[in-house]
Order: sequence, then C-alpha cells, then structure tokens
Amino acid sequence: MSRRPMPRIRAKLLPEAITTPAAELVSLAPALEQLREGLGGRPREIPCKYFYDDRGSALFEQITALDEYYPTRTERALIAAQAGQIVEAAGGAQLCDIVELGSGAATKTLPLLTAAGTPRYVAVDISAHALGRTREIIAQARPDVTVETVLADYSRSYELPGKPAQGRRLALFLGGTIGNEEDAEAIEFLTRVREHLESGDTILLGANLVTDPAVIHLAYNDAQGVTAAFNRNVLIAINALAQSRFDPADFDHHAPYDVEKRRIEMWLVARRALEVDLGRMGGTLRLSQGEGIRTEISRRFRRDDVLRLLDAAGFTPDRWFESPDGRFGLGLGRARDALRGL
Ligand code: SAH
Ligand code: AVI
Repeated sequence: MSRRPMPRIRAKLLPEAITTPAAELVSLAPALEQLREGLGGRPREIPCKYFYDDRGSALFEQITALDEYYPTRTERALIAAQAGQIVEAAGGAQLCDIVELGSGAATKTLPLLTAAGTPRYVAVDISAHALGRTREIIAQARPDVTVETVLADYSRSYELPGKPAQGRRLALFLGGTIGNEEDAEAIEFLTRVREHLESGDTILLGANLVTDPAVIHLAYNDAQGVTAAFNRNVLIAINALAQSRFDPADFDHHAPYDVEKRRIEMWLVARRALEVDLGRMGGTLRLSQGEGIRTEISRRFRRDDVLRLLDAAGFTPDRWFESPDGRFGLGLGRARDALRGL
C-alpha cells in the first residue's frame, strides 16, 4: 500500500471554558433529522452519542468509579498487566503514536504510553469536556508526551494528524464502547478506523464479555442512581440542541439485561401520558404511560465475536488478552492489506 503524504494537522484547540454540548459537533440539520427519525421509530430511540454533553461526560466519569460498574477497573487492570505485550505486538520501538477513539478521561492509557516510551498521543472524542480531562490527566502524569485532541464525531468522517512515514500507529477503542453498536455499525466504525491506518498498524479493541447477569444488571442500576442520572441527562442534552421540552423528571430509568440477546438495554420510560414539544425537530412526541425510548444498548461478547468484528473490518486478529475473571477482553488486530482483506 503506498504511503500517503502527511496531511496538515487539523486538531482543534480546546476552548478556554468548556461548555460545548457534544451534539454541537454534528452539523445541526442531520442531527435533528437523526433524532426525529429515532424518536418516531419503533422502538423509539436516541443514539447514545448524545449522552456526552459536559454533564453527561462528567456523569460517565462518575459511573466509572462506582463499585457496581466493574468494566472500567477490570479493563484498566488488564491493560496495566499486559501493556508491555500490547506495545511489543503493536511495533515496540517503531510505535510513533497512539490514537484513542472516544478517549473519555483516558484513565487507562497511561501504562501503554509508559510501555511505549514517548510516542505522541492523539485523542478523538465528541465531547470537549472529555478531551479537556484527557489533556489534564496526560499532562499531569506524562508532561513529556505530546497530546493532540480531535473534536469529532467518529461515526462520521474525521481527520487525524499525519504520522511519520516510518512509524507504526496503534489505535485504541476501549471501554467496551464497541458494544454500544449493533454489528453493522460496529463493522462500519472499525472499517473507518482501518482506513486511517496503514498495513501492519494495529488496533486494540476492548469488549465486555458475557458474565453473571446479576453483576451486569447492577452495573447499570447502581444504588446511588448515577447511571439513572446519566440516562435522563440525554434529554437535557437534546433540549439544548433542539430546543425541545423534555422534562427528565417525567421518565424512569429502566435498564434490564437480556440474557438471550446478551445485552443491557437502557430505556427512559414515561411515568404518565406525555406530549413533548420537539422544538427544532418539529412537531410533538406523544407517549403513553409506560412507553419507552431506548437510549443505549450495551452488548456482552464472546471472544470469537470480537475477533470476527475485527476480521470483518480488515484486521487480522493477532492477540487476545482476557481479565482473570473473564469479564473483559482485549483483541489486538493488525491492519491487513486493504486489497487482500476487504
Ligand atoms: N474510552 C473511555 C470512555 C468511554 S465512554 C473509557 O474506556 O472509559 C465513550 C466515549 O466515547 C465518551 O468519551 C464519548 O464522548 C465518546 N463518544 C461517544 N460517541 C462518540 C462519537 N460518535 N464520536 C466521538 N466520540 C464519541
Ligand atoms: C461507553 N459505554 C461502553 C458505556 C457502557 O457501559 O455501555 C456507557 C454506559 N452506559 C451506562 N453506563 C455506562
């Protein structure tokens, strides 16, 4: 595959005061259309990327510290234990940068940066708040690492800073965020990541694995109600974007684990019959009492499901790492020649 010339760096600088609703990033008309279509469909749906306005991002970070929410600490420990092996497989001394998609607060990335020496770190996120936290955390722990932030919606096209011709790039997609999509969207997303890489570059894909349904259920139904607040907050984020008139207090948080489908579904369920002014989306949403809006799916995988997703997107599965309790896995895929693999 021929080397592309290095594109100019287009990473956006963060504003001084971070107040951006995540949804401001997506151009307004398609966002309103997507929301309108989702709310009008069956099941009624709000895409989960709208969770991450400033408050949503802060609430997500709070979730990751909850006793009940096991994925973050499990993945963090797994990465810390395997960082040397991961970096070695990703190119060792040839590694020139680590690109993290949906970096959030980047709390698991440090052991990889340490194992890799001092490569550049590129964080891509839809949330300016999350990118601000990323910068803070990396600057505090590793002031020697160059950090580039790219404010973008990775479900659409986005640009990354170029890399030196000789170096290897490692892409990270952690947190189990791949499980927030159905297969088709997950493969589309991974294929787009593959397009940003060159043959031989790698991706590390974190995935929640099938485990005890009671443990999974608790992770999305915590005692303090942080996940419920995160779920309801999506309505505030949408009100800011669309000038709609959802009242989060009109909705119950509902997050059952479906053993057959192997996934949590998060819903907002109307406490009473409602008529909601949809603002710039146009029209009125009528909900009967007990009717729900699905806000997220969060899937649990088996090892082969993860490797299959990588393969379908043009990555040859290379390594598999699993937490000792079997709750979280990391698949390392190597980008193969696009002509041969896709
Ligand atoms: N990787 C982190 C954060 C996971 S939460 C961790 O493992 O803890 C999901 C992250 O992806 C959030 O920071 C959110 O803002 C970001 N995100 C969600 N949808 C996105 C999209 N369409 N484009 C870019 N970032 C997105
Ligand atoms: C970002 N994503 C992997 C989280 C998850 O567990 O699916 C989002 C989340 N939703 C509720 N709690 C956390």
